[in-house]
Amino acid sequence: MNLYNVVSKAYDLLEIIFFSEKGKNPVNVILEMVPDRKIRVLDMCCGTLSNTITIAKEKPAVKVMGLDLSEQMLRVAKRKVNRQGMKNVYLKCADAAKTGLPDKSFDYIIIGLVLHESCPEFIKGIMAESKRLLKDEGNIVILEWERQKKFCKFIKFAPLYLLESLHCRTFKKFYLADKKMYFENYGFDVTREEHCNYTIVLKLKKRKGRIDNGNETSSGV
Ligand SMILES: C[S@@+](CC[C@H](N)C(=O)[O-])C[C@H]1O[C@@H](n2cnc3c(N)ncnc32)[C@H](O)[C@@H]1O
Repeated sequence: MNLYNVVSKAYDLLEIIFFSEKGKNPVNVILEMVPDRKIRVLDMCCGTLSNTITIAKEKPAVKVMGLDLSEQMLRVAKRKVNRQGMKNVYLKCADAAKTGLPDKSFDYIIIGLVLHESCPEFIKGIMAESKRLLKDEGNIVILEWERQKKFCKFIKFAPLYLLESLHCRTFKKFYLADKKMYFENYGFDVTREEHCNYTIVLKLKKRKGRIDNGNETSSGV
């Protein structure tokens, strides 16, 4: 059974618990990173659309596509879209590694809280698919959990850390990895890095003029 079909109704609590305390809310950082003009944004593994619903609302020229494999998560997303009467959001139920969408069709691709819980094969697939779907001058925005150095934050994050470690055997390795190096190994340059509440937001660009095989290297990840 798909875990997200079960937790879909409670999923947005995560945002309330971890993002909205005093400090930088990663959702606001992502909102600010995406320009307010006629562009196409793909929210890969969008879940309940928590990272892009505000973009669609506050930047109506932006066309947002939310893609996810879980029908239940998409149902929650659809309810939010309908409630706000948005006309610039499209939802698609598909595998993020094989979307069937045309090459170079997006200006921004958001990948939020997905990679830490994915197996290396799927990460390779989603990164390759994102590279294919991204326009040459486009950007990928990654949202991921960040290592907690402050004791009180470490304690608050501990239950989730434990759950994630139990849910995915590669979680710890990804969580501790040097993210800049990690994405460089997939042929992307990190052009911006923002440390937010419990998370890091990275802006990536396709590296030009380098042949890369999309493989993880032995350097750590
Ligand atoms: C932790 S949630 C993240 C949701 C959202 N991006 C966020 O930042 O809150 C992970 C999402 O990835 C989706 N997912 C997992 N494997 C997938 C796949 N192969 N293709 C598309 N979506 C997938 C799950 O259904 C779930 O909604």
